[in-house]
Amino acid sequence: MYTLGEFIIENRDKFLYSTEALLRLFSSIKLASKSINKEINKAGLTEEIIGSSGFTNIQGEPQQKLDHFAHRAFIESFKSRNVVCGIASEESKDFIVIKGEKENIFQNKYVVLIDPLDGSSNIDVNIPIGTIFSVYIRKTPIQMELTIEDFLQKGNKQILAGYIIYGSSTILVYTTGNGVHGFTLDPSVGTFYLSHPNLHFPKREKIYSINEGNYARFPEGIRNYIRYCQEKRRPYPYTARYIGSLVGDFHRNMIQGGIYIYPKTVHFPCGKLRLLYECNPIAFLTEQAGGKASDGKKRILDIKPINLHQRTPFICGPVEMVSKLEEFIKNEK
Ligand code: AHG
Ligand code: MN
Ligand code: MN
Repeated sequence: MYTLGEFIIENRDKFLYSTEALLRLFSSIKLASKSINKEINKAGLTEEIIGSSGFTNIQGEPQQKLDHFAHRAFIESFKSRNVVCGIASEESKDFIVIKGEKENIFQNKYVVLIDPLDGSSNIDVNIPIGTIFSVYIRKTPIQMELTIEDFLQKGNKQILAGYIIYGSSTILVYTTGNGVHGFTLDPSVGTFYLSHPNLHFPKREKIYSINEGNYARFPEGIRNYIRYCQEKRRPYPYTARYIGSLVGDFHRNMIQGGIYIYPKTVHFPCGKLRLLYECNPIAFLTEQAGGKASDGKKRILDIKPINLHQRTPFICGPVEMVSKLEEFIKNEK
């Protein structure tokens, strides 16, 4: 059974960039995710990790203690591996600059965008949560100051994206543009082993995932699509599954065959999910798993971001399911 490191080396000719850099990136990601995993497993035993931190993030959402812990774990871990020059995080208003080993020199060329803890409202109730990450090559020349444009790149420029799901087991799933591969953490040795090679949406259309509590606030096309899923779909209706952790909902849908939808609502006129930290990485994985990711009209990966924390409506899943929903949106009166 391959470890993640062995798998990367074995497949090094398929990665267009430096294998050493990729190993260092994963070394940072593994280190931080293992310490988060350890903390999550203690939830309920200590007051230090469950509950609200008392702060809100840039978008006014309450931050959980574990949001902070995960954010700091990733920043420290990336700092220590000397491969990244900047990080933008859902939990931080501005991007964070990381200088290279030589004082004051920005020698590294990779930037990371991260949702350190996804699904944080589920921390206290033992439901899967995750981390979502995404890596780009900076646009400005090495040794120059980073600018916001290094982070506001279209999703189609990602060189690496993935997530860690802290569920019944802890799994790291990633793509570099050569398929989607999943590795399960063996906690007894602290090693990720290849468990899900070449993940792909199955042919079977089975699930729709949407927060139906917002039904009355959805646009007409979305409401019509939900009715189609429940009443009109032949030969059988889809089954509804929604846990409120994008990582968990997506992971299940990719394995079992389903569509994930977070549309605009009356309260979230641009949708709720963040383009840079959530939608782009999941869209890259979706396409690499043979699916389609859209904002209802256009491809997520072609959107030019205009600010770090912008939101977008988000739909991802098997191509036929997403295209069908796009038809409903198009036919909206
Ligand atoms: P985060 O915890 O990073 O803020 O993300 C939560 C997101 C996503 O994981 C999930 O799918 C969605 O919010 C759930 O939102 P609703 O509770 O509005 O359905
Ligand atoms: Mn999130
Ligand atoms: Mn988050």
